[in-house]
Amino acid sequence: MNFMNVDYSTKIPNNVNLSEDRQVLKALEGWHPGYMDWWGDMGPEGFQQSLVYLRTAYSVDPRGWAKFDYVKMPEYRWGILLAPQEENRVIPFGENYGKPAWQEVPGEHRATLRRLIVIQGDTEPASVEQQRHLGKTAPSLYDLRNLFQVNVEEGRHLWAMVYLLQKYFGRDGREEADDLLRRRSGDADSPRMLGAFNEATPDWLSFFMFTYFTDRDGKMQLHSLAQSGFDPLSRTCRFMLTEEAHHMFVGETGISRVVQRTCEAMKEAGITDPTDIAWVRALGVIDLPTIQKKLHLHYSLSLDLFGSEVSTNAANAFNAGIKGRYRETQIDDDHQLKNATYPVLKLVDGVIKRVDEPALTALNMRLRDDYTQDCVKGMLRWNKIISLAGYQYKLTLPNVAFHRQIGEFKDVHATPEGVLIDDATWNQRKGDWLPSTDDGDFIASLMKPVTEAGAYAGWISPPKVGIDNKPGDFEYVKIET
Ligand SMILES: [Fe+2]
Ligand SMILES: [Fe+2]
Repeated sequence: MNFMNVDYSTKIPNNVNLSEDRQVLKALEGWHPGYMDWWGDMGPEGFQQSLVYLRTAYSVDPRGWAKFDYVKMPEYRWGILLAPQEENRVIPFGENYGKPAWQEVPGEHRATLRRLIVIQGDTEPASVEQQRHLGKTAPSLYDLRNLFQVNVEEGRHLWAMVYLLQKYFGRDGREEADDLLRRRSGDADSPRMLGAFNEATPDWLSFFMFTYFTDRDGKMQLHSLAQSGFDPLSRTCRFMLTEEAHHMFVGETGISRVVQRTCEAMKEAGITDPTDIAWVRALGVIDLPTIQKKLHLHYSLSLDLFGSEVSTNAANAFNAGIKGRYRETQIDDDHQLKNATYPVLKLVDGVIKRVDEPALTALNMRLRDDYTQDCVKGMLRWNKIISLAGYQYKLTLPNVAFHRQIGEFKDVHATPEGVLIDDATWNQRKGDWLPSTDDGDFIASLMKPVTEAGAYAGWISPPKVGIDNKPGDFEYVKIET
């Protein structure tokens, strides 16, 4: 079979020859009804009978892999798609550096691998759950379609992890696969595994922030796992990254369009001070200081996803050849980090300082730094929109010590600039830095659905180009009535 193209003859589309892998096909088919139940209960609320203009992968060739068509979401063909196997691939880092990549799970690393796959898998359905109510307040059919595209692909990413669990981890893999459908975002008894995936996504600005900042954490994690010596995991993650790019595009352009609309409205009204919140809000657009607060929230929640700055788990996973660094193969060093150090931000006698740590235990910090650099790119675009409109306002990333629940700074309070403050000051000021109930209420008041083709809510600009080059008035979702 041609591993570039996807076999659609089985119930579960795939390019891993499932029709000749009866046992795994059976396990996946057994898991399928539970997945459909989960999608029905926790997937997008409403719109399940609507025709949505979605892309579906027909190939894993990055030059042309998706085709677009109208699909009802429950009929989306969630498939198992791995990037093509690289011939003679070797483990690119760690103690097994240069040895052939594993096609089966090495016994001594089984538990670590399973844990990493389960954690990654858990985030995928979680985001669908977090976003399930957004359909009813979409600012346009274009945005509605993008939301659903992200949702069905996160569903597919769950399938990707479940395939690995069922194929390579036997009975406990099957149990983990079932548990992935049992946990629920924000549930008191059975929450999702990571903090940011239990937070609410109450409005569309949050959705754009989530896809920009939190999906980007996903990108960094997938990049590290794409380096894995366990070849099936590497191949799975490589293809997921192809899809993930669109999710971050949705976030970046979404925030751009909100900023754009706000700046236009301020200009039309003759506003010179973008911090005149009451006046800006009276125009029915989201003021820049509130956008900044949302950014503070989502960036800080996403930083927590990288775990502790200094971590022996991260060192072990690297040594074992399971989880590498961002763009590992492009880094010019020994890929074993035997004597290397890495500067880690720490709290030393009440002061934030850079301290050299062994590079091996500092891998989470390093990945987080790579992430921050990646985040800056969007910031530059948004700030350019603001300055082109003639305003002296800059969106900024908060200091890493700001609003943290995990790692070095979890027990202290800091301002977005990184000045350490006491509890009383924090409680007094946090509403200046993080979205307050009032801010949430204001944003919620703008969230009115716009369902006419080509029309957009007043708080967001239309996109520059359509999906699949469709014209401005294209009906991306045919809502059944
Ligand atoms: Fe994903
Ligand atoms: Fe994503």
